[in-house]
Amino acid sequence: MCGIVGYTGKRNAAPLIVEGLKCLEYRGYDSFGLAVMESGDGSAGHEDAAGKPTVIKKQGRISDAGSDVSVACGNIGIGHTRWATHGVPSDVNAHPHTDCSGDIAVVHNGIIENYAELKKVLIAEGHVFKSETDTEVIAHLLEKFCNTADADGLIGDEKIDFAVKNLMNTLEGSFALLILIRGFNGLIAIKRFSPLVLGIGDDELFASSDMTPILEHTQKILFLEDNDYAYLTPDGIRVFGYPSGEAVEREVKTVDWDVESAKKGGYEYFMEKEIFEQPAVFVNSFRQKIDDGAISVLKKASSITVVACGSSYHAGLIFRYLMEKYCKIPVRVEIASEFLNFTIAKGTAVIAVTQSGETADTLAALRHAKANGCPVFAVTNVLGSSVTRIADYVLYTRAGPEISVAATKSFTAQCAVLLRIVSLIGKGIFEKELFEIYPVLEETLLFDPADASAVCKDAENIFYVGRGVYYPISLEGALKMKEITYIHAEGCAAGELKHGPFSLLTPKTPVVAVCTKDDAYPVMISNIKEMKARGAPVIAIGSSGDKDLKEIADIFIPLPRSENICEVISATIILQMIAYNTAVLLGRDVDKPRNLAKSVTVI
Ligand code: G6P
Repeated sequence: MCGIVGYTGKRNAAPLIVEGLKCLEYRGYDSFGLAVMESGDGSAGHEDAAGKPTVIKKQGRISDAGSDVSVACGNIGIGHTRWATHGVPSDVNAHPHTDCSGDIAVVHNGIIENYAELKKVLIAEGHVFKSETDTEVIAHLLEKFCNTADADGLIGDEKIDFAVKNLMNTLEGSFALLILIRGFNGLIAIKRFSPLVLGIGDDELFASSDMTPILEHTQKILFLEDNDYAYLTPDGIRVFGYPSGEAVEREVKTVDWDVESAKKGGYEYFMEKEIFEQPAVFVNSFRQKIDDGAISVLKKASSITVVACGSSYHAGLIFRYLMEKYCKIPVRVEIASEFLNFTIAKGTAVIAVTQSGETADTLAALRHAKANGCPVFAVTNVLGSSVTRIADYVLYTRAGPEISVAATKSFTAQCAVLLRIVSLIGKGIFEKELFEIYPVLEETLLFDPADASAVCKDAENIFYVGRGVYYPISLEGALKMKEITYIHAEGCAAGELKHGPFSLLTPKTPVVAVCTKDDAYPVMISNIKEMKARGAPVIAIGSSGDKDLKEIADIFIPLPRSENICEVISATIILQMIAYNTAVLLGRDVDKPRNLAKSVTVI
C-alpha cells in the first residue's frame, strides 16, 4: 500500500503535495517524493508546459523531511509516500519515476504483475531503467506510446488518449496512477483496483488515494471507478471509461468528514479499518506468485521448523496443522525467544514468520538456524527489513502498513502465504476455495459482535477453546482479547480444559468455543457440554445452520456458509471483531494498548 496525491491550480504545488503526503503516511512511510511543473499559457489545455517536471525523492518519512522538499516551483504536482513491494526502500526506488527523457513523471499505488516481462522488452528496445521498481515500466511505456503517437502525427488530446489507452491495455495488476507529461497542462489520473479520488476546489483540482489531503481544501469529491481515466486541466475534470474511451459522468459528492476520521476511512480506529481490509489483503497475499525454487527446497526438507513471536507464532501453528495433515511433512513451531535452547535436526528448513521483519528474538533464531546450515526462509510484511537480509528465500505478505499495535490483517496475510505454501506442496489443495474466498470474508464482516461483547466486557477471565487448527485460532482470539481489553483471556486446546482450567469455570467465566463441522466436531460438542455443566456461559462459533450447537450454546455465531478452510479465516475475523468491540465498549485505547509495542527490537 502506498499513498499518492496530486494538485493542479494556481497555487505553488509543492507545499500542498508535502502536506497531502503527511496525511497519507499511514499508507506507507519508507520513502517519499514529488514532481512539479509549471503550466503553459493555459490555452486549450495542452500548450507548452514550461519544462520538464522537477523531481525530488528520498528514502525516509515525509514527516522527517526538511523544508527543502517544498522549494520546487510549479503549479502542477504529484507526490507519493511509499510502502515498498518491488525494490527495497531507497532514494532511487522512491517515486515519482521518470522515462528516459525526464519529460514524464509517474506516481503509482498498486502492483504491476507483468512488469518483469514488460521491462525486458523495453530494455531490448533501448530504454534505460534506473530503479528496481515495477512502476518504472509505466513511465517508459508512456514514453514509447507518446513517441508512436508523435510519429503518427497525433497531437493534443488524441496523443494523450492514445498513450493512456495503450498503457491500460498493456498493464496487468492493480494501479492508481497520477502522471505529469511535459506539454500536457494538467494531471492525468488512472484507476484500476487501487483507490483514487478527485477533489474539486475553486479554480483548483486535487487527486489522492483517499480524501484526507483534499478535505482541507474542498468537500466536493468525485469517486473514480475501476478502469476510469481522467484529465484534470484548467477546463475542469473530464472522465473516460476504458476500453471504450467514451466520456463518463461520475457523481460529485459533498463530504463533511473531519480529517482524522477520513484518515481512518471513516472507521473509529485503525484496528477496525485493518479488520475490514482483510478480504482484499488475504486474496492479494494468497494469489501472488511464489518462487518455485523456494517451494522445492521446502518439499525436499526432512522437516520444517517455524520460529516466530506473538500472533506470528500462532500463524506458524496453523501452518503446522495444515501442512502435517495435507502434505505429511513434520513441522515444529517454536517461540523464537526459546529456540536457542534446542537442537535442530539435519535436513530441517527454518521459516521465520514476522510482520515487521525486525523482531529481535525472531532474527536471532533465524541467524542461529543459518549458522547451523539450514536453508532459511522469511515470511514478512516489510520489504528490505532485517529478516530479508538473513533469509535465503523471502515470501511477502501483502497487508500494507499496519498501524494498530494488535495484529489483524498482517496475521491473516501470514495465514494466506503459509496456506499458499501448503497448497503448492499439497498439489493444489484449497487453491480453488481460497482464490474465491473474497465474498465469504465480506459476508463475515457483516457480523454484529454486540451480544458476544456484552458478555465478555464484564468478565475477569475468558477461555477460548478449539481443537485441531482451531486451537491456534483460539490462542490468537485470546491474545487479541487480552491485548486490547486488558481482560485476562486464555486459549486452550479443548481437550486440555479438564486437566486443570476446569477448576476456574464458573457462571462468571465465559468460554468462547470454535466448533465447525470438521473431524473434531463430535468430541468438541461433548467438550462444550462439559463446560456448560460447570456453569460457564458459552459463546460458540460454528458452521452455518448447526442446530445442535445453537441449542447448546448461550450465544451461537454462525459462520458464512463456505468450505472448511474458509471457515478457519472467517472464525479468526469474528474473534478479532469480538475483541475489538469489547475494547471499544470498555473505552480502551484500542490502537495503542498500554505497555505494548508494534515491533519489539530488543531481546
Ligand atoms: C509484538 C506485536 C505483536 C506481534 C509480535 C511479533 O508483540 O505487538 O502484534 O505479533 O510483536 O511481531 P512480528 O513483527 O515479528 O510479527
